[in-house]
Amino acid sequence: MRGIHTLLRLLAAVFVAHLLCSTGTAKVTAGKIKKFLDTDNHTNNWAVLVCTSRFWFNYRHIANTLSMYRTVKRMGIPDSHIILMLADDVACNPRNCFPATVFDHPQKTTDLYGDNVEVDYRGYEVTVENFIRLLTGRVTTNTPRNKRLLTDDKSNIFIYMTGHGGEDFLKFQDSEEINSYDIADAMQQMWEKQRYREILFVIDTCQANTMFSKFYAPNVLSIGSSEKGENSYSHYHDRDIGVSVIDRFTYYNLKFFESVDMSSKHTMADLISTYNISLIHSTPGVRTDLFARELEKTYLTDFFGAVQEIELTAEPYPIGKNSVS
Ligand SMILES: *[C@@H]1O[C@H](CO)[C@@H](O)[C@H](O)[C@H]1NC(C)=O
Ligand SMILES: *[C@@H]1O[C@H](CO)[C@@H](O)[C@H](O)[C@H]1NC(C)=O
Repeated sequence: MRGIHTLLRLLAAVFVAHLLCSTGTAKVTAGKIKKFLDTDNHTNNWAVLVCTSRFWFNYRHIANTLSMYRTVKRMGIPDSHIILMLADDVACNPRNCFPATVFDHPQKTTDLYGDNVEVDYRGYEVTVENFIRLLTGRVTTNTPRNKRLLTDDKSNIFIYMTGHGGEDFLKFQDSEEINSYDIADAMQQMWEKQRYREILFVIDTCQANTMFSKFYAPNVLSIGSSEKGENSYSHYHDRDIGVSVIDRFTYYNLKFFESVDMSSKHTMADLISTYNISLIHSTPGVRTDLFARELEKTYLTDFFGAVQEIELTAEPYPIGKNSVS
């Protein structure tokens, strides 16, 4: 059984390496195969942050996403491992009376757009197709590095989405929509292509929990802001800016993250225990049946921290030893 398993893994590794090779992005090397064979430990964290809304009055969705972006950066994920997709640019919208800024609080203490925001997909680049291609790695050969999710089977990926949605769909730019089956299938493809170890999927939109109801790929933990039939609600309305500046569910998640840093021992269970329906105004949902670990033992830093404990070995990897036997 173990032999067959190893053989399958090796074949998969060779296949994927071949795939990478044929698209010109990598060469088949012993190192690459070793990488695909060693699956137990996780060596990197990635974040995909997606705001699917256009137009000024959806300011809060951009603020949600930029706040999340700041948080994952603060907790240690470098920009090279964050894919930021923003469908609209409210910072430079003529209606913005604070040009080139985005705030998530009426006190306006932190300009979310301030320094070092690297948007990877912007404006009309934020499409369902580009999102699915990004996840599944089916990008064209001339796609720049910052538009690729260069993960492997040791990567934990945090996927955050916000915008306008409904039962089993999320609108992209008011012109198209992604449905819950699209994302579920994309994740299964990611799993088959060994593109992740674990995924934390978080979505803030109306009827958000329906968006992960169709998932079936393993090792996915999902959290949504509202049940089927429920809206998701905005939080602060800013009278100067003239629109709401953040959504409640995202706001209370961020509030918890404020108390967390890279050395934190807070777990996913701690985060979820803070959800308070009377503050969020909708019913957050958590789906754990696809996730192998207990939430009490899943640290926030497993997804958000910088992972630096990488094991290096001096001796060459014994390729032939435990392969086909
Ligand atoms: C990660 O690797 C270390 C050292 O090889 C090992 O002791 C540990 O059990 C591994 N972790 C997991 C989750 O498999
Ligand atoms: C939830 O929020 C309400 C309103 O602020 C508060 O009265 C209540 O104590 C909170 N519940 C919990 C469990 O913290």
